[in-house]
Amino acid sequence: MGVYVLGIAGASGAPYARRVLEQMLSAGHQVKAVITNAGRKVLEVEESLVLTGNTEADTPVLLDWARAAGHESNLELYHHKDVASPIASGSFPVDGMAVVPCSGGTLGRIAHGISNGLLERAADVCLKERRRLVLVPREMPLGLIHLRNMTAVTEAGAIVLPASPGFYHRPSGIDDLVDMVAGRILASLGIESPVMKPWLGPEPSSYSEEGNQ
Ligand SMILES: Cc1cc2nc3c(=O)[nH]c(=O)nc-3n(C[C@H](O)[C@H](O)[C@H](O)COP(=O)(O)O)c2cc1C
Repeated sequence: MGVYVLGIAGASGAPYARRVLEQMLSAGHQVKAVITNAGRKVLEVEESLVLTGNTEADTPVLLDWARAAGHESNLELYHHKDVASPIASGSFPVDGMAVVPCSGGTLGRIAHGISNGLLERAADVCLKERRRLVLVPREMPLGLIHLRNMTAVTEAGAIVLPASPGFYHRPSGIDDLVDMVAGRILASLGIESPVMKPWLGPEPSSYSEEGNQ
């Protein structure tokens, strides 16, 4: 089983992070999680998770997510300022990292190697060690600086995977939309998961229905 870093920055999209974490854990992988201060704020707003600021206090809260997957012992949370943690070093082997969601600020710092927190440092390590790094920005509209930073991280080897679900699977609710983005994130890291549903073409029934209209 693999070891993956999950970074959570201060963009909207906590449900994506939750789904990715659950799927990583339920697939039996170890997850090393790090949340920026703004990420904590957004989790509070979107998921009513009040994170109090130190590892011991945070872990039980995120463990609620992990417990749903039944593998909470495989989750380890590091404080964003703990730059002495294992994931800050390239000598600590990890199989990849996803930043879900990724704020414009975190994207910019990663694009420019400004590793003033553990999340950016762990991403920088992935790039220098040529490991898989998936960044999931959520912003609209995109400014020129966002676009340039996305180009820069792509040139450096990262995958930019915007949180923009499609509708061709005919989602029946928000969970389906979240699953579509989470599935693509996991697939980009090489993690198989039931939430990744490949497009196999339109269903014949929906095709003929449209033709009859
Ligand atoms: C509720 C809430 C939602 C936000 N949504 C976004 C967003 O979708 N995208 C984004 O880039 N920033 C968003 N922000 C702003 C970032 O949190 C802010 O720029 C922050 O400084 C980013 O810090 P970080 O990169 O260290 O996580 C949001 C902030 C709040 C409080």
